[in-house]
Amino acid sequence: MMILVTGATGTNGREVVNRLIAAGQAVRALVRDPPKARELADAGAELVRGDLGDAASLKAAFSGADAAFFVAAVDARFVGWFRNFLDGALATGKQLRIVKFSGMGSSVDSPAEIMRQHGQTDEVLAASGLPYTILRPNAFYQNMLWSAQSIKEQGAFYLPMGNARQSLVDVRDIANVASRVLTTGGYEGKAYDITGPESLSYHDVAKTLSAVLGKPVKYVEVPAAAAVDAMLKTGMPEWNARAVGELYTAFVERGYAEITSAIEEITGRAPTSFEQFARDHASVFQ
Ligand SMILES: NC(=O)c1ccc[n+]([C@@H]2O[C@H](COP(=O)([O-])OP(=O)(O)OC[C@H]3O[C@@H](n4cnc5c(N)ncnc54)[C@H](OP(=O)(O)O)[C@@H]3O)[C@@H](O)[C@H]2O)c1
Repeated sequence: MMILVTGATGTNGREVVNRLIAAGQAVRALVRDPPKARELADAGAELVRGDLGDAASLKAAFSGADAAFFVAAVDARFVGWFRNFLDGALATGKQLRIVKFSGMGSSVDSPAEIMRQHGQTDEVLAASGLPYTILRPNAFYQNMLWSAQSIKEQGAFYLPMGNARQSLVDVRDIANVASRVLTTGGYEGKAYDITGPESLSYHDVAKTLSAVLGKPVKYVEVPAAAAVDAMLKTGMPEWNARAVGELYTAFVERGYAEITSAIEEITGRAPTSFEQFARDHASVFQ
């Protein structure tokens, strides 16, 4: 079976490619810049040059594929990118299995644009007539890696999350789910909210990091507007900074603390705890 993977150089795509190769599948990775994706080729993936904004490149990428995994960057053009991807799949005339990365809380009615984009594209996929599965993970443990420098240098991280609790999840577990769903039947026509095993506030996250790292780590609450300013200062495009700010506000207002059994149900393994994630990444925060 040949599986096409988009976003293959990113946080989730890279993990999914590695899982599929380990499971003995043939993987074709859609990449914008093949020389920058050497690691994927070395791992055994076939690289195909393409861009989600270039419909013709996608049609070519789908040639000979039996299934495809879609994940893409947070971007103002996301909906158009997904339409190009789906058109490429439909143009093959085959009943390709499509597994789409979405997000917990996705809805066309969400106050946050990123969740509306996912809601809209999830609906487009469900209406496509192709066998599909939608994965809706909660926020990743791996997002804490964005704060690695301030944790290392100041023993602190800064987020506009108030006291909100979230059932945060490990990207490695999501990749196990994606790999299983891509390679096994029985998940078609379904959407799964994917969460970790606990609902954590960022005060809880700080407590676990302190215990695992053996040094005090403090969560400093900041207003959403300050977080947006900080993202803009790092050079993040304005749309992205505003859209991520909206997400933070949605997380605080709505919560997203529900725990689901999707990881255990689909992979047969218990989800990774945040403490285990912290141990596995301790050197990055120390
Ligand atoms: N962060 C969270 O907690 C969270 C939770 C739930 C859902 N999500 C969703 O997860 C998705 C992001 O996943 P991620 O964190 O794994 O992504 P990521 O690490 O940001 O990687 C994005 C990928 O998209 C590729 N890409 C960017 N522009 C492209 C284009 N024009 N054509 C083709 N490929 C392009 C990038 O390739 P290059 O190497 O060429 O740049 C990269 O491989 C978003 O949809 C987000 O809403 C995130």
